[in-house]
Formats: sequence, structure tokens, C-alpha cells
Amino acid sequence: MLIRPETLSDESEIQRVTIMAFAAHSHTNHTEAEIVRALRADGDLTLSLVSEMKDGVAGHVAFSPVAIDGRHADWFGLGPLSVRPDRQRQGIGSALVARGLEHFRARGADGCVVLGDPGFYGRFGFVSDGALRYGSVPMRFIQAIAFDGDTPSGELRYARAFDIAGP
Ligand SMILES: CC(C)(COP(=O)(O)OP(=O)(O)OC[C@H]1O[C@@H](n2cnc3c(N)ncnc32)[C@H](O)[C@@H]1OP(=O)(O)O)[C@@H](O)C(=O)NCCC(=O)NCCS
Repeated sequence: MLIRPETLSDESEIQRVTIMAFAAHSHTNHTEAEIVRALRADGDLTLSLVSEMKDGVAGHVAFSPVAIDGRHADWFGLGPLSVRPDRQRQGIGSALVARGLEHFRARGADGCVVLGDPGFYGRFGFVSDGALRYGSVPMRFIQAIAFDGDTPSGELRYARAFDIAGP
């Protein structure tokens, strides 16, 4: 498996993988592929990694800037994260998350946030300490890793593209 930044020719495969990954999920309104496209169009796709296998793109992760309590510090949001259903549970999602975090740590970012299952994201060091809020999302799903110092407290705001998902 090769993990690398996206190139222009990956765009349609990323879209396909994202749609397939979330297709069976009843807890979303299936806007993830649209969000990735809008992040790219808005110049908010800070890091976009694909996992390439012999049969094409098997997974994708996006990272974009977030604001905390109205301040745009050097914090980034992880997601959407997608692995093709026939390739799930083979370590691809973990490898994409680990590589992305490594990138932001190395470039001296302040930290990274994610909204998701603590059972999955906890293994990378994401914790929910109650510092962040995101609308009505339960606290345990709002997780952060501070690379340097503490996690700021306050309301989390994602890039404009995430407004597509609705409240
Ligand atoms: C969630 C997802 C990205 C994980 O990718 P993956 O390549 O299947 O994950 P990995 O193989 O790296 O899994 C690593 C571990 O996480 C566990 N895991 C996978 N999905 C999980 C989930 N939703 N909740 C809790 N644990 C999960 C696996 O059981 C595995 O555990 P193990 O190592 O103890 O066996 C993938 O299943 C996916 O695309 N799901 C649909 C879209 C989605 O939910 N995206 C995340 C939204 S926040």
C-alpha cells in the first residue's frame, strides 16, 4: 500500500471511494464526497492523502483548517476519512490517520481535532477532555490532539465546506 498526497487525476476516484465508504451509514446525510469537493474548490484542503493499491484508490483522508473560539490558530480538522468497503479492516484507515498526524506534527502545527468514534480515534492519541464544543454533538465524539501545549477551549468551527452537511 502506498500513501501519498492526492493528484488531479485522483479526484473522481476519491469521490467514488468516499460515497462507497459512507453508503451504508445511516447516521450521515451522505454529503461527505460533496464536502471533499467543496474543500478542494475553496482552497481549504490543507492535506489530502490517498491510499493507493494495485486496484486503485482504496482510501482517502482530508484535513482542513478549523477555528476554535473564533480564532484561526494552527489547528486542523481530520475528515472525511473513507476506506472502500472491500478494503476495510486491513489497516488502511489507521495508516492514513497516522500519516496525516505525522505530517502536521512535523510541520509544527498546534493540533488536530476529529469528530468520530472514540473507539477508533483514541488509539492515535485523540482525547475528549471537554474543552471543545460543536453544536449539539455529544462531548465524547469531539476529540483533539495537541501537538504543542494544551487544547484551547471553545466552540469549534470547521471550514465553510462542512456547512453542506447542515446543522
Ligand atoms: C472508519 C474507517 C475509516 C476505518 O478504516 P479501516 O481501514 O477499516 O480501519 P483499520 O483497518 O485501520 O481499523 C483499525 C481498527 O479500527 C477498528 N474500527 C474500524 N472501524 C471502526 C469503527 N467505526 N469504530 C470502532 N472501531 C473501528 C477495527 O476493528 C480495527 O481494530 P483492530 O485493529 O483492533 O482490529 C472505515 O471503516 C470507513 O471508511 N468507514 C466508513 C466511513 C466512516 O465511518 N468514516 C469515519 C467517520 S468519522
